[in-house]
Amino acid sequence: MNVRPARVEDLAGMQACNLQNLPENYTMKYYLYHALSWPQLSYVAEDHKGRIVGYILAKMEEDVTDGDEPHGHVTSISVLRSYRRLGLAKRLMVQSQEAMATVYRASYVSLHVRKSNRAALALYKDTLGFTVKEIEKKYYADGEDAYAMRLSLKHLAR
Ligand SMILES: CC(C)(COP(=O)(O)OP(=O)(O)OC[C@H]1O[C@@H](n2cnc3c(N)ncnc32)[C@H](O)[C@@H]1OP(=O)(O)O)[C@@H](O)C(=O)NCCC(=O)NCCS
Repeated sequence: MNVRPARVEDLAGMQACNLQNLPENYTMKYYLYHALSWPQLSYVAEDHKGRIVGYILAKMEEDVTDGDEPHGHVTSISVLRSYRRLGLAKRLMVQSQEAMATVYRASYVSLHVRKSNRAALALYKDTLGFTVKEIEKKYYADGEDAYAMRLSLKHLAR
């Protein structure tokens, strides 16, 4: 399985993967906005035929409040069911994090995750070292709370 930076022509495949895997979906305009604004931060995983089996859609946070440092944000990540537990999500996260730190000098990366999402929580907490910054009540459209999580990227700065 190959992990490489996402290109504009990958966006439809990323959107299809997102629709299969998650209830949080986005317009093509929003995918395009990520790809054109921060082309180094989104990645895809493809199979031997070039089909997209996983993606990370990521950006730099634009609403940086006074005193906050520049930081990256993971908008969405998912891997098709039959390609899970192969280390793809970890590779997608690590590649994006490295680009956030080296290209944009991000000092940390943030994301939201459902409190009930055991697989994603294990990936973020145990595999990657994220910690919970706060709980955002009723963050999701169906009323579920989110953990707002963060990981420092300072060790990656060059
Ligand atoms: C969460 C998700 C992206 C993980 O993708 P993945 O490619 O299977 O993850 P990886 O293979 O890189 O897993 C890395 C580590 O994360 C943890 N992990 C991943 N899936 C897990 C699961 N189902 N149960 C427990 N731990 C899990 C493990 O520690 C794993 O390491 P290991 O396989 O050596 O034990 C995938 O399950 C998915 O697409 N889920 C639906 C969409 C989603 O929830 N996205 C996140 C929204 S915040």
